[in-house]
Amino acid sequence: MKQRYLLAKEWVAQMGEYLQEVTSQPFDFSAKTGHQDIVTAHDKKVEQFFRENIHRHFPQDDIVGEEFSGKIETGSGIRWYIDPIDGTTNFVNLRRNFAVSVGCYRDNQPVFGLVLDVIRNDLYSAFAGEGAYKNAQKLGEGRVPENLGEMILSTPNVQDAFWRGYPQQNAMLRLADEVRAVRCMGSVALELCQVAEGTVDIFVAMRSAPWDHNAARLILQEAGCRISQFGEEELCQDRETSIYACRSRGLAEKLRTEYGF
Ligand code: 2AM
Ligand code: CA
Repeated sequence: MKQRYLLAKEWVAQMGEYLQEVTSQPFDFSAKTGHQDIVTAHDKKVEQFFRENIHRHFPQDDIVGEEFSGKIETGSGIRWYIDPIDGTTNFVNLRRNFAVSVGCYRDNQPVFGLVLDVIRNDLYSAFAGEGAYKNAQKLGEGRVPENLGEMILSTPNVQDAFWRGYPQQNAMLRLADEVRAVRCMGSVALELCQVAEGTVDIFVAMRSAPWDHNAARLILQEAGCRISQFGEEELCQDRETSIYACRSRGLAEKLRTEYGF
């Protein structure tokens, strides 16, 4: 699996350079499910690059990506999760705060995860059992705040979190009043990595797809953080779901028992 990890790092770096370059140029986009869900030719190009390279080196591996349906269940037990651009709206409008996200699992266990903050050129990475890193800096060693009043709550979509009527809405409204502040970046993968690096304490996304969270999931776990879906201990690997993450087991327990997470 180390060979896959090293190659994946090279591919992510290459696609980061490509996306940095195109970010300075004008480009077109189109609506997917509606005007709040968009895609560009670059999303497709980057995912195609990963698919071709993975297929050339490891033809037996499964690939699950956002932009193309591909073959799955080849029986190898190895599955890649590719989000070529997580935060496409940020890519199009803000030209920052978007990521390339690549996770690889064997027999339903995460083996490695890579999330590249393209514009800052910060690579979040983890290999199972070897810790989590932001570039060369080891993650998970900072102080975890004890009180909600010191914490930042992050969520990628304010409407989903606070007024679209998801079952956790009331808990979110209560939590928003108790934390120091709520922040919204608009990229599930990058916001999860902020929890891993300790700049954000609690993250909630009402809609997160496997390619959004499956790379950052291992980065969080290796940094000693918790990631889960509402009402469950384990995060579902292959379905879109509502997820939350936080910096410690104790905080997860508090969110479960006092806020119904
Ligand atoms: P994307 O940019 O890859 O589409 C923004 O709300 C965050 O939620 C982004 O990380 C976005 O990923 C993700 N997301 C997940 N499901 C989504 C959906 N159905 N519509 C819009 N964004 C979605
Ligand atoms: Ca995407």
